[in-house]
Amino acid sequence: LRVGVLASGRGSNLQAIMDACNQGLVPAEVVVVISDKPGVYALERAKSAGIPAHFVDLKAFASKGDYERAVVKILQDHGVQLVCLAGYMRLVGEPLLQAFPNRIMNIHPALLPSFPGLHGQRDALAYGVKISGCTVHFVDEGMDTGPIILQAAVPVLDDDTEETLAARILQQEHRLYPEAVKLFAQGRLRVQGRKVFIDKNKG
Ligand code: GRF
Repeated sequence: LRVGVLASGRGSNLQAIMDACNQGLVPAEVVVVISDKPGVYALERAKSAGIPAHFVDLKAFASKGDYERAVVKILQDHGVQLVCLAGYMRLVGEPLLQAFPNRIMNIHPALLPSFPGLHGQRDALAYGVKISGCTVHFVDEGMDTGPIILQAAVPVLDDDTEETLAARILQQEHRLYPEAVKLFAQGRLRVQGRKVFIDKNKG
């Protein structure tokens, strides 16, 4: 399975997916990485792995639609079959959604539908929940609203800061995202409305 990754920053989830693919744990390969931010570490990680890395500058386009069509073009040029958002800090619009229906995944650092948005860890901590975690979901037009594929829970401890909670969640992210890509690559994810069913082992 040919995977394209969109990232805006550090790229540790990108790294986890690349590593799992390289170790043969996931029957897929990351074939291109695109960032909307220049010079981010995610692009460096891709280059180090010998994977084409593109910065696409929104400001170079007349509209967000034109920007996204350029992103879609790059993905299609590389024969991408699944798009993974990994710390991609933008809402996805029509051009991407139409080009990759039910073929875009995102990871969010909270147990959705709780605490969507930019500060999942901080918001969970401020609310006082005792359990948080992460969610891999298919992307729709909303912010962190698409059908949920996998979730993992972690405890929230009394002395947690945003940083310690984020680190605990991140460990689970690095396990969960490759697992979701694996299920997709194996053709085992079935989307029915809001629900994603995971078929029992195929072959
Ligand atoms: C992760 O916490 C992810 O859940 C969120 O953004 C962060 C990206 O981290 N969407 P990284 O760039 O993968 O290291």
